Amino acid sequence: MKQPFCGWRCWLSASLWCFCGSLQGMFVTRNSRPNIVLFMADDLGMGDLCCYGNNSVSTPNIDRLAREGVRLTQHLAAASMCTPSRAAFLTGRYPVRSGMASSSNLNRDVVWLGGSGGLPPNETTFAKLLQHRGYRTGLIGKWHQGLSCASRDDHCYHPLNHGFDYFYGMPFELLSDCQGFHTPELHRQLRVQLWVCTVVLGLIPLLLLVPTCARWFLVPWPVILAFALLALVFFVSWFSSYGFTRRWNCVLMRDHEIIQQPVRLERLASLMLKEALAFIDRYKRGPFLLFISFLHVHTPLVTKEKFVGHSKFGLYGDNVEEMDWMVGKVLEALDRERLANHTLVYFTSDNGGRLEAQDRSGQLGGWNGRYKGGRGMAGWEGGIRVPGIFRWPTVLEAGKVIDEPTSLMDIFPTLSYIGGGIPPLGRVIDGRNLMPLLEGRVSRSEHEFLFHYCGASLHTARWYQKDCATVWKVHFVTPKFSPEGAGACYGSEACPCSGDVTYHDPPLLFDISRDPSESRPLNPDNEALFDSVVKKIEAAVRQHRGTLTPVPQQLSVFNTLWKPWLQPCCGTFPFCGCDRADDISDMELFVESKWNDTFTGSHAEVP
Ligand SMILES: *[C@@H]1O[C@H](CO)[C@@H](O)[C@H](O)[C@H]1NC(C)=O
Ligand SMILES: *[C@@H]1O[C@H](CO)[C@@H](O)[C@H](O)[C@H]1NC(C)=O
Ligand SMILES: *[C@@H]1O[C@H](CO)[C@@H](O)[C@H](O)[C@H]1NC(C)=O
Ligand SMILES: *[C@@H]1O[C@H](CO)[C@@H](O)[C@H](O)[C@H]1NC(C)=O
Repeated sequence: MKQPFCGWRCWLSASLWCFCGSLQGMFVTRNSRPNIVLFMADDLGMGDLCCYGNNSVSTPNIDRLAREGVRLTQHLAAASMCTPSRAAFLTGRYPVRSGMASSSNLNRDVVWLGGSGGLPPNETTFAKLLQHRGYRTGLIGKWHQGLSCASRDDHCYHPLNHGFDYFYGMPFELLSDCQGFHTPELHRQLRVQLWVCTVVLGLIPLLLLVPTCARWFLVPWPVILAFALLALVFFVSWFSSYGFTRRWNCVLMRDHEIIQQPVRLERLASLMLKEALAFIDRYKRGPFLLFISFLHVHTPLVTKEKFVGHSKFGLYGDNVEEMDWMVGKVLEALDRERLANHTLVYFTSDNGGRLEAQDRSGQLGGWNGRYKGGRGMAGWEGGIRVPGIFRWPTVLEAGKVIDEPTSLMDIFPTLSYIGGGIPPLGRVIDGRNLMPLLEGRVSRSEHEFLFHYCGASLHTARWYQKDCATVWKVHFVTPKFSPEGAGACYGSEACPCSGDVTYHDPPLLFDISRDPSESRPLNPDNEALFDSVVKKIEAAVRQHRGTLTPVPQQLSVFNTLWKPWLQPCCGTFPFCGCDRADDISDMELFVESKWNDTFTGSHAEVP
C-alpha cells in the first residue's frame, strides 16, 4: 500500500526543522543583527585625525573608535566629490552605473536643490535593504543626492524614497551661502553667468532709451522700467548679503517638510546631535540603522564658541574637534543605553581634504597627510583615500589595523550581510562584503582591481597583486596642478577632469605599497615588470568597461540647471523663508546643557 504523503516521521522531522528554524530566526534577530551607526564627514582629510598619525589635532573620540575597533589604512572613496562618492557609498556601485558621474567639468555635484538630477529611485541603497529586513532607518545631516524630478513636491530622490524612515537635515550640503556676511560659494561658481545676466538685463532698458533703437521698437516706459527693476532685483538678490537666491539651497527638512529656510547655521550642529540622540532613544530596542552624515568639516566651518580657538589649526582644526566631540556624544549615548556591544559603528569621510579651500585667514580645508592631491581629483590618493574605522565589540578585534585595499562601496554588501538583506538582482555590485576581512577569517581583500574615476572619465586603476602583496597603480590621465606641483588647483573650484589634463602614454605606474605618496613612477624603459603590469591593468579596464551600460545622465547640463518649478520653498516663491523649528526654547536649553557637558542621561525633553 502506498504511504500517505507525509508519515509521522516526516511530520516529526518537519516540525523539528520548523522549531530549529524559528530558534535560529530568534538567534539571528536577537544576537547577530546589530544596530548600525554610520558617521560620514564631509571633505575630511586622511591626515586630519590623530589615529591616522596627526599628533597635533585632538580627536579623542574617533581615536577611541579606532582603539576599540578595526582601522583601515587603504580605504577608498569611489569618487573624489561628494555627490558621486555618496551615490556609490549608498548603492555599492561605481557612480557611472547610476548615472551619478558627470561628463562635464562644471556639474560634478548636484548644484541646485531645484535641479532635476539625483540618485535614481530604481537604485537600491543599503538603507532600503535593511528597512525591508525590519531595521528602523534614519538619516541625519547632509544628503546631496537630489530632491525632485518633475514637480516641486514629488521628492523622488528624497531620502525617504531611498529607504530611510526618518530624515532630518539638509537635502543639499552646508554652504556659506546661508550666511549673510560670507561670499556665497555658489555665487563664486556662477560668477560669470551672473554678471552676464545682470548686464544683459540692465542693458536692455538702456539700449531702448537710445533714440535710434527707440525709433525701431516703440517700447512704452513701463516696460523699460520693469526691465530696469528686474535687473536691480537680480543684482541685489545675488550680490547683496540678504539676497533671496542665497536661500534656495539653504534648506533644513524634517522628513518631507521644510522647517527652516534659510538654515540658521549656528544652531545646526546642536539640532543634529539632538536628533541623533533622540533617534537612538526612540529605536533603542533595535535593530536600527542611523546614518549621521556630518555637515562638518565643510566651509563656512560654523563652530560653537566652546571650540573656537580649541585647536592648533585655526577654525578648520576647531571644526574637526567639534565633530569629534559630537561623535563622542553619540558613543556616550550607546554606552549609556548599553548598546555598544551590539552596535556596529563606522566612521569615514566622503572624499579627501579640500586643499583649495583657503582664505586670507589661512587653510579652511583638510590635510591629506603624505598622500598627493585632494578632493576633486580622480586618481591621486589624497582625493580618495579616507579614514575608515569599524567598531563592533565582541565581534571585531580591538586595535586591529588592516592595510588591504577596501572601498566605501563595500559598506553596501557588508551591511546587507550583517543585516540579513537580500541584494538586488540584475545589477552589478562593485563592493565586497568586508566582514571576513574585518573578523580576520581571511587576510586578503577581495578586491583585485579598483577603478578611479574623475566625473565619468576613468583616470586611474589599481591592481592588488595578492601573491606578492603589491598594490600597483596606473595613471592614464592626471590633472594639471596650478601652480605646477602644488597638488591642487588653487584659485579654482577643483581641478578639471577632462580638457586641460595630462594624458600619459605610456601611463604612469606606481607601486603604492612601497611608494604611497606616488612620487617615484616606475621607469617604462628598464623595468621588465612595467609592461606586464600595465597590460594586466589595461585588460581589467577593458573588462570593467564591458560591464557598463548606458544610463540616464543625472548630472547632465539640463538636469543640473536650476528650474523654478522644482525649487523647494516655504513661504512665497521666490522669497522663500520660514522657521518652523517650533521647539526652540526647550531645545535651546537641552542643547546648551549638552554643550556644557552636563548631560546626565535623562531623555525627558526629547520628543
Ligand atoms: C594635522 O592636521 C592639521 C589640520 O588639517 C594640519 O594643518 C597639520 O599639518 C596636520 N599635522 C600633521 C602632523 O599631520
Ligand atoms: C560588552 O562585552 C564585553 C566583552 O564581552 C563585556 O566585558 C562587557 O561587560 C559587555 N558590556 C555590556 C554593557 O554588556
Ligand atoms: C534604472 O532606470 C534606468 C532608466 O530607465 C535604466 O537605464 C537603469 O538601468 C535602471 N537601473 C537599474 C539598477 O535597474
Ligand atoms: C552653560 O554654560 C554657560 C557658561 O559657560 C552658563 O552660563 C549656562 O548657564 C550653562 N547652561 C546650562 C544649561 O548648564
